[in-house]
Amino acid sequence: MNDQLKRQAAAMALSQIQPGMRLGLGTGSTARHFVDLLGEKVAQGFDCLCVPTSEATAEQARSLNIPLSDLDTLDRLDMTIDGADEIDPALNLIKGAGGALLREKIVAASSDAMIVIADGSKLVQTLGRFPLPVEVNIFGLGATQRSIADVMAAHGATGELRLRVTSDGQTYRTDGGHLILDAFFGRISQPEALSRDLLDIAGVVQHGLFLKMCKMAYVATADGVITLPAATN
Ligand code: A5P
Repeated sequence: MNDQLKRQAAAMALSQIQPGMRLGLGTGSTARHFVDLLGEKVAQGFDCLCVPTSEATAEQARSLNIPLSDLDTLDRLDMTIDGADEIDPALNLIKGAGGALLREKIVAASSDAMIVIADGSKLVQTLGRFPLPVEVNIFGLGATQRSIADVMAAHGATGELRLRVTSDGQTYRTDGGHLILDAFFGRISQPEALSRDLLDIAGVVQHGLFLKMCKMAYVATADGVITLPAATN
């Protein structure tokens, strides 16, 4: 059911793209539907040039013959289409369950618009129920962990800070070779201040709060796809 909803949201985003666009391709199960649908369009002759946000998405796009480029070659992108783990009413996001948050943020920041596609389970009133991924350098891990724990305490976190491991128990590594610490906040009441506090820690590479970056979201529910922000008359 959720998979059908994800595909509906992806199809809605696909209807917004124009020939010749330069697109950022997100990562995760919802973005995967978008890339699949884009591949069908490209097979019919649709012209676009895309920058993937992970090795997994790059591999999928290559298998579908979607033309790829990078941000060394391209200056700006017209649009990035990506999934999210949480979406609040201001379209602030938590992202990074798939570990691609750093490249996702770089690509979104290089795009004129970030469009999020998701199913309705991702909508929340306040961010933080979903653990916030924090990407960190492997050097000095203990010191970085202690500093993040201090920031969590200062921001009223109710849960733990957990080093991400793979399903077979190995330490998870991002495409860039970094580690991920998942921070269980429960509720993030001051996302801007938290963002600054985390980025002030020397060992933190990036975090999964995407604030004021998303312009529009297509959220698929059992009653159809909702566009956020809702149109006002
Ligand atoms: C990848 O790192 C993430 O930011 C994903 O975009 C996010 O976790 C959403 O993934 P799903 O579409 O699989 O829920």
